[in-house]
Order: sequence, then C-alpha cells, then structure tokens
Amino acid sequence: MRVFFVVAIALFSAACGGASGPPYKPVADVKMLMASIMDPIADQYWGAVGTVIDDTGEHELAPKTAEEWDAVRNAAVIVAESGNLLMMPSRAKDGGEWMRAARRLIETAEACIRAAEARDKTAVFDRGAEMYDACVNCHVKYSPEIVNASKEQPPARTPKQP
Ligand code: HEC
Repeated sequence: MRVFFVVAIALFSAACGGASGPPYKPVADVKMLMASIMDPIADQYWGAVGTVIDDTGEHELAPKTAEEWDAVRNAAVIVAESGNLLMMPSRAKDGGEWMRAARRLIETAEACIRAAEARDKTAVFDRGAEMYDACVNCHVKYSPEIVNASKEQPPARTPKQP
C-alpha cells in the first residue's frame, strides 16, 4: 500500500512536470509585461475611437467593419486577462492593494469588452477612460516615477488624462 502510494505520488508529480510547485512558468516580469503586452494592446484599444485633430481638421475615429470591432473587443480581453497575470505570485507586490488595483483593471476592461460587443463607440471611449484610470491608479502607488515623468503618455484621444 505504501509503495503504491509513493508510486502514485511519483506519477502525479511527473504529470505535473516533475518539479514541485505550479506547472505554469511566468516569463515576463511586471516591467516587461507592461511593455510587451499591456501598453501596446491598451493603445490599440484607445486608438480605435475618439477624435484626432490634424492639419486637415477634426476626424472621428470608429471601427467600421466587424473585424475592426472584434479587434477592439480582443484588445480589451487581453487587457482583462493581463490583470490576472499581474496577480500571479512572482508579479504581485502584495496581497491587498495590488490585487485590488489589478482587479479594478480587470473589471474596467470587462466593461470595455461589453462596450465593444455592443458596438457602441461612445461607450468604448468612456469605458476606455475608466480603464486608463485603473492603469494610473496602480502606477500612482507602485510606480510613481512613470506618472511623474509622464513616460506613460496617455493617448491624445482619451478624455480624462490625469
Ligand atoms: C496592478 C498594478 C498595475 C496596473 C493595473 C498597471 N500597471 Fe503598468 N506598471 C506597473 C508597475 C509596478 C510598473 C513598473 C515596473 C518596473 O519598472 O519594474 C508599471 C510600468 C508600466 C509601464 C512602463 C514599462 C517600462 O518599460 O518601463 C507602462 C508603459 C505601463 N506600466 C502601462 C500600463 C498600462 C497601459 C496599464 C493599463 C492598461 C497598466 N500599466 C496597468 C503596475 C501596473
């Protein structure tokens, strides 16, 4: 019985990749996750709607085709799920405020998903501003130098820019 038990444990750990601990393997640290996933994809979302002013006047941006609307929705899905990636043990800075900040990002991004699914460009814009606030809310606490240095330049078309 004991031998069986030991064998069962050995098989179980082999199935889990052999090592003790979780099977997943975080690759990017927080900085790289921001630079390679969060920032480009959030920009893609924010860039989809709004007003651009150039030499030729004001232009309203809005997705036109089903594919373009899907791309906006997909961008919001990536932001939302990235919020979960921020909560992983190697990335979370603490178990309280960090988790709430990541959760707020997830929830604001979920609202962005719904806005894109409803193909409501005003809602995509407004919910996008709330998602932006969720980014800044975390940076204020955990990376104030980015906020101060305005390294993280909000896109010109987001309405609320702290
Ligand atoms: C739960 C906290 C949290 C949330 C939410 C968050 N960030 Fe960050 N972000 C950080 C931290 C911490 C850093 C600093 C990482 C470092 O320098 O080690 C950072 C850094 C960055 C940087 C600078 C990366 C670099 O190369 O130096 C960018 C750009 C950025 N975030 C964009 C975003 C955007 C866009 C969002 C929202 C869609 C967002 N972040 C949401 C915590 C967060």
